[in-house]
Amino acid sequence: MSYILSIDQGTTSSRAIVFDDQGRAIGQAQKEFRQHFPKDGWVEHDAKEIWNDTLSLCREALRNAHIEAQELSAIGITNQRETTVLWDRETGDPLAKAIVWQDRRTAATCQTLREAGHEEAVRAKTGLLLDPYFSATKLAWLLDNVPGARQRAEAGELAFGTIDSWLLWQLTRGKVHATDATNASRTLMFNIHEQCWDDELLALFNVPASVLPDVRDSAGDFGMTCPELLGAAVPVSGIAGDQQAALVGQACFSPGMVKSTYGTGCFMVMNTGEAVTSQNRLLTTVGYRLNGKTTYALEGSIFVAGAAIQWLRDGLNLISDASETEALARRVGSAGGVYLVPAFTGLGAPWWDPHARGALLGLTRDTGIAEVVTAGLEAVCYQSRDLLDAMAADCGTRPTTLRVDGGMVVNNWLSQTLSDVLGVCVDRPVVTETTALGAAYLAGLGCGLYSSLEAIAGQWRCEREFTPDLEEEERQRRYAGWRDAVARVCKE
Ligand code: G3P
Repeated sequence: MSYILSIDQGTTSSRAIVFDDQGRAIGQAQKEFRQHFPKDGWVEHDAKEIWNDTLSLCREALRNAHIEAQELSAIGITNQRETTVLWDRETGDPLAKAIVWQDRRTAATCQTLREAGHEEAVRAKTGLLLDPYFSATKLAWLLDNVPGARQRAEAGELAFGTIDSWLLWQLTRGKVHATDATNASRTLMFNIHEQCWDDELLALFNVPASVLPDVRDSAGDFGMTCPELLGAAVPVSGIAGDQQAALVGQACFSPGMVKSTYGTGCFMVMNTGEAVTSQNRLLTTVGYRLNGKTTYALEGSIFVAGAAIQWLRDGLNLISDASETEALARRVGSAGGVYLVPAFTGLGAPWWDPHARGALLGLTRDTGIAEVVTAGLEAVCYQSRDLLDAMAADCGTRPTTLRVDGGMVVNNWLSQTLSDVLGVCVDRPVVTETTALGAAYLAGLGCGLYSSLEAIAGQWRCEREFTPDLEEEERQRRYAGWRDAVARVCKE
């Protein structure tokens, strides 16, 4: 039996899972970590804490799996994307807290660049928008605001990385400063068509090339871990950003296949094979890069999915546990014309309105807790439809199936309603830890444990398929109500 250790470093928690070569999880460990909100709109992480937690979790997962590090064939890393770390190459210490993807402190910088007419050129090269979501303006902020950082960066003393690079640097004790093409494609500095850091973009964002990591395939050689850390030197042979890793874990390897991950936010990613330029404000991104060949994807990012249910629980105290939502929704069947637009921090794709704020519409004297909670679940479905419609419009064909994963999809009512609202089949796999599994698959490809993507696709199993069960007229009527609700909070 062969084993892969997968590190899944997310926005609110880190985890390590040992998979066997059949893709079964045999031991795992997980830990939440501190979120820092020093100012309105700022979100920071302590990169040192993330590394220390990751190392302990790797050891704990090995113990729980009852195996030793020397029995591992490889390690795979997947991570929250865009989050920006700047560290000292000599000491390995971060210069400041990491700036998290959710952080909006560089909104004004992005606005200035947009007003100066740079968005189209940036978009053409990176597939992204000029938004504070991505790494470049966060990195420039660190270089400009940490005393001495810019000079030291220009002297070659500092290294930049997204969380994958940071963990790889620590795992190899500074021997490897690298990332993979999926993570690079989220920085706003990487030309996704030429697959290289782009000098014009570096000049635009004022970032010296000396801080950048080497960009490699998502499966391949990322070096060996320092033997003292886990008790043996283990090859790191797979890296991908978490949403791209989920695309691999869901075995979406053919153009037109699409997955959606429902966690705090929701990220829908469609394999497009070649790069497709969105006419509907979706992002063009790298799905994975294997043996030098890039497979592209379209992505729609919704900032609030599970977070809306958290708000119903912690903000409004309407429920005491997320698991109660299913029974409440079943009781009323639908929200009955109530719409919750959870634009707590603006709206993401395809609206991209950072100034929009949330609303609860359509209330009557009969509206109760069950209707409001159900509206929270339905909002996740309607937002998914916004994304799927945009993808269908960009590609000219509508997918017939959506593969789903993430904490929310255990809710059968939600999964069925998703199918009803989208009008497509919704497939829930046996393994819903698809992000960690995807990183394990990439590491397995990189170390030769798997021979091909077909071998991996053969392991994907559907646990349950939800099929649409709603009259077309009713589907359109309900969705029209959502569009109307969005129009009231959004500038477009
Ligand atoms: O782009 C941000 C995304 O990678 C974060 O994912 O699962 O850590 O919230 P997650």
